[in-house]
Amino acid sequence: MKVLVVGGGGREHALCWKLSQSPRVQRLYCAPGNGGISEVAELVPIGAEDLEGILKFVKEEAIDLTVVGPEAPLVRGLTDLLEGEGFRVFGPNKAASEIEGSKAFAKEFMRRHGIPTAPFVIFEDPEEAKSWIERSDKPLVVKASGLAAGKGTIVCDSAEEAIQAVDYIMVQRAFGEAGSKIVVEERLEGQELSYIAFCDGEDILPMSTSQDHKRLLDGDKGPNTGGMGAYSPVPFVSAELEKRIIREIMLPAVRGLKQEGRPYKGVLYAGLMIDRDGNPWVLEFNCRFGDPETQPLLVRMQGDILEVMLACIEGRLAELQIGWDPSPAVCVVMASRGYPGPYEKGKEIRGLETLEGMPDVWVFHAGTVKRDNRYLTSGGRVLGVTAKGRDLREAIRKAYEAVSRIHWEGAHYRKDIGHKGLNEAWPS
Ligand code: AMP
Ligand code: GLY
Repeated sequence: MKVLVVGGGGREHALCWKLSQSPRVQRLYCAPGNGGISEVAELVPIGAEDLEGILKFVKEEAIDLTVVGPEAPLVRGLTDLLEGEGFRVFGPNKAASEIEGSKAFAKEFMRRHGIPTAPFVIFEDPEEAKSWIERSDKPLVVKASGLAAGKGTIVCDSAEEAIQAVDYIMVQRAFGEAGSKIVVEERLEGQELSYIAFCDGEDILPMSTSQDHKRLLDGDKGPNTGGMGAYSPVPFVSAELEKRIIREIMLPAVRGLKQEGRPYKGVLYAGLMIDRDGNPWVLEFNCRFGDPETQPLLVRMQGDILEVMLACIEGRLAELQIGWDPSPAVCVVMASRGYPGPYEKGKEIRGLETLEGMPDVWVFHAGTVKRDNRYLTSGGRVLGVTAKGRDLREAIRKAYEAVSRIHWEGAHYRKDIGHKGLNEAWPS
């Protein structure tokens, strides 16, 4: 089969790496890809949001399966466009992707289907939002309803901050049209967990558990980022909690979407908060794999991911099972100086060759380009250094040993990725 992966981040590198192991994949392309992906796939210079450009390439090359990594092309209807011309796509269509594309839709959907989520109000008028906030006595979170590249959520410590957040999103339009509607919701406390499942419109096949580290600095300090590292599995998730997540969240979501005429095929990612009493709450749904959660998940996933993707498209998920290597995996993200604000680019990355032959260590590239056999930084998140170990402690040690061999000027990474998982008890 000829397979095209759309996207160019660490998630897409991990997907290309995994797909390249499928005996059924004869040619693998990635649009636009990155420096590291060029080692496992043929790069195609088409942007992930150039829907017409992707359709043209899929037609010209007679691509058998297109796998869409990021949310933006899904929400804009890439799946509908390609399927409309008779091509197979792994990724939900526009109507189903609204679960991520509109937070207002997602919250009202959860309310309709009794899926646990923080109490909320939706506003289209900034003055109404502000006067509601002035009357509220709860800690709040203000969210742009539309897509904002993961930056549209502001967790507030006071009513003044929440009012500023309304101005920033709705009046200054920091995220453009995405801020024409907002969700204001109660702030929840607890541990975040990523729960990601394959879906075929009817059934789900969950991946193993994973946990992201969203803040820039050690100890969960500093601004939110796209994710500074992840590990899998998460030891404090009991079998009982997982059953509840499936029963109270994942199945009602997939069945609810079907019932509302938006059958969901692809990967559904629930960003959860587990409260002090162990109850799961949905912070958000995403219509795609997590980045960086995919990196540690895929190095643990056994079997052929292509078969799972085809089963999703063909509605055969109930026949399948996925095996998970019990060895934990950790991914440490190395980022450019300045990220998540404006960051430096074009720095030469040194030391990657010293990792060759290190067992159970993988470097997934995100913002890199390859020039004359050298890798240069080109994005905020640059590398996802991933390792697997007999236990989490060993996986962490191996990942950081690999990180210590990689250098560029201004490289930044957290030193505590995975530490929350070292304790089987609930971390505080
Ligand atoms: P979202 O854009 O909804 O994924 O939110 C991004 C991040 O903001 C989440 O990963 C959480 O860290 C935080 N967050 C979102 N909603 C809430 C909430 N209701 N309470 C506390 N933190 C939240
Ligand atoms: N790691 C967070 C996300 O993919 O949205």
